[in-house]
Amino acid sequence: MTYSSVLSASEVTALEQHRQQFPALANKAYFNFGGQGPMPQAAIAAIQAAHEYTQQQGPFSNQINAWATAETNLARAAIAAELQVAPETITLTESVSVGCNIALWGIDWHPGDHILLSDCEHPGIVAAVQEIGRRFGVEFSTCPLMQTLNQGDPVAVLTAHLRPTTRMVVISHILWNTGQVLPLAEIVAACHAYPGERGLVWVMVDAAQSVGVLPLNLAELGADFYAFTGHKWLCGAAGLGGLYIRPEAMAQLSPVFVGWRSVTKNQHGHPTGWLPDGRRYEVATSDFTLFGALREAIATHQHWGTAGDRYQRICTLSQYLWQRLSETPHITCLRTAPPAAGLVSFQMQQGNHSQLAQTLETQGFLLRTILDPDCIRACVHYFTLESEIDRLIEAIRHL
Ligand SMILES: Cc1ncc(COP(=O)(O)O)c(C=O)c1O
Repeated sequence: MTYSSVLSASEVTALEQHRQQFPALANKAYFNFGGQGPMPQAAIAAIQAAHEYTQQQGPFSNQINAWATAETNLARAAIAAELQVAPETITLTESVSVGCNIALWGIDWHPGDHILLSDCEHPGIVAAVQEIGRRFGVEFSTCPLMQTLNQGDPVAVLTAHLRPTTRMVVISHILWNTGQVLPLAEIVAACHAYPGERGLVWVMVDAAQSVGVLPLNLAELGADFYAFTGHKWLCGAAGLGGLYIRPEAMAQLSPVFVGWRSVTKNQHGHPTGWLPDGRRYEVATSDFTLFGALREAIATHQHWGTAGDRYQRICTLSQYLWQRLSETPHITCLRTAPPAAGLVSFQMQQGNHSQLAQTLETQGFLLRTILDPDCIRACVHYFTLESEIDRLIEAIRHL
């Protein structure tokens, strides 16, 4: 197979100009977007400007309260537009893990209920499920999706592990370790059609690696809960994420943490009930200076291209990286076919992965190791350069 999507000279110039907006890209070859994205200058400036504004006009004042409400509304609207859903379905959180916990702890679990996870979930989410199990006598088990990376049908494997008592399936849209993109719409359809004993089988999605990568229409995908963050592929600041809740699921999900942002109030300011939308799962004071930063980051990406354009370029680049790694002696990519997203995981036939990642870091190439399966993960974003991939391959060959 030959790589045929090399950019023209003018396209490379435009991309290099675009990259200049991201200070972190200047002094290294960055392949850790799945860990945290680099912030564009406009996002960094938005935080600084927000701090200056709040100090000048407050920090606590009627004007700043109105500003914080407006910032919250604007951030929610920008996220909702990216995910093609109504703003009312979005809860602003701090991280993927907080979003998953809102969904996990808000359900009225009964002893004997069952949660089905994939065997590729993030340890933080697995830990939350384990604690639900301990607290409420809920059973949980895993289904082997890792083995479907190159062959087999993840929908068939997953549905074969549903039980009459299953109430929730916990899966990632893109598996953080192998980079596999799961057929989420089919999985949701199969779970929702499953004739269980305990009502609808809810699907909770860890979207850490899919938001900012895939062109998404969450209303069409049909997942009940879709938890994401702004600080990875969207390149916002750490500390702001979100949770989409399907309207039918929201009616049945109780807020766990509760504060002044969750409730309606009467004329005396006393709480009278939940807000009618995703705000009911928001709690209290947050770092509102991060909200404009995420908006700026999203706008920076949109300025470069549509979600479809960006995804296509990510796939072009991950295919290139995968192909060049596959041609490199002593390297084996986990996938036997080009990746369908920006994560490329590979193994060295000899040597220690952690040592390799550390050596590469001293040379300016930032990658991470994964423990299960034991591998190195390199991520490409739409603004990665082919020349960065070439330099990484050279560095690996010279180790
Ligand atoms: C798949 C997956 N889930 C959850 C997380 C945790 O994300 P956060 O720190 O935003 O909760 C990560 C972070 O690496 C991840 O890759």
